[in-house]
Amino acid sequence: MAEPTHIPILVTEVLLHLVDEPEQARRTGQVSHGGAMRQIRTSDERLFIDGTVGQGGHAEAILLRGLPGCRLLGFDRDPVNLSIARKRLERFSNSLVLVQDSYAQVKQHAYVQGFNHVDGILLDLGFSSGHIEDASRGFSFSHEGPLDMRYDQTQELTAEGIVNGWNQDDLAQIFRVYGEEPASHILAKAIYQERKHKRITTTLQLAELVASVIHRRGKIHPATRIFQALRIAVNDELGELSRALPDMVDLLRPGGRIAIISFHSLEDRMIKKFFAAQQGKTLNTINKRIITPSEKEIHSNPRSRSAKMRVAERI
Ligand SMILES: C[S@@+](CC[C@H](N)C(=O)[O-])C[C@H]1O[C@@H](n2cnc3c(N)ncnc32)[C@H](O)[C@@H]1O
Repeated sequence: MAEPTHIPILVTEVLLHLVDEPEQARRTGQVSHGGAMRQIRTSDERLFIDGTVGQGGHAEAILLRGLPGCRLLGFDRDPVNLSIARKRLERFSNSLVLVQDSYAQVKQHAYVQGFNHVDGILLDLGFSSGHIEDASRGFSFSHEGPLDMRYDQTQELTAEGIVNGWNQDDLAQIFRVYGEEPASHILAKAIYQERKHKRITTTLQLAELVASVIHRRGKIHPATRIFQALRIAVNDELGELSRALPDMVDLLRPGGRIAIISFHSLEDRMIKKFFAAQQGKTLNTINKRIITPSEKEIHSNPRSRSAKMRVAERI
């Protein structure tokens, strides 16, 4: 069984805003954000949902807080990561339910498992280090592997299916929108021409084709944006997020919080707009400024550099 390799991001900040501050409010019986202090009544349980439990780093940190009556419901689409999390969290098995499904299905599982008035919900979006390290998953443009990129490998759509099956305009669209790739049309055309002769089936085949068309120099490999775009499209990452947000808010108890860590400007924009639309109705935003990793964290874990966290509290 594989060991955890993913380093969880913004752990201190997640614990502060999702666990410690609400716990403080619970002790005083008050919610202080959004203007007037309100009295709140809560049960003896502390219920958390981790929508992207991954290899269990954040979930472990939450459970280690040792709050009385604490239970956690964790989701991941990827059975490999879920099994790593299950092993890592073995000692908490009485307080833990892990489900292999998308967090977009949170409501149906939450009702069945008795998680309908929860204290905290966490989403840590995107892929984990394990996905990049395992070449056979097809997420990495620097290691040869099949063009797969599915978190859930029972799903039909793969990156190979998109690259060889979608029309040129649709390819250009995802490269431009999800990858923010300026040469999206040129690239889509090159892929379209190439696949007339030969099916594009591997990561290096695609990465080399991209590098032969885009001659940008710099630290970032020209295939970075294209692989990002394909990953987002294969897993419908933006669609899942937009479907899940209203359901997650419904599941929070008054004073309960939602914290979302994102790595892509489109995700962050969606979260920002959603929180703004709910402001004063169902949610109050907790952080005036976006929460980002410290220099120290970025230094020790460079993958954290593009992370942005937003936190809101249920009214
Ligand atoms: C950044 S990792 C989470 C890492 C985790 N917080 C930890 O500490 O180990 C993101 C995880 O979300 C999962 N994922 C992506 N989209 C998902 C979705 N719609 N539903 C559930 N899990 C998803 C991925 O498989 C991946 O394991």
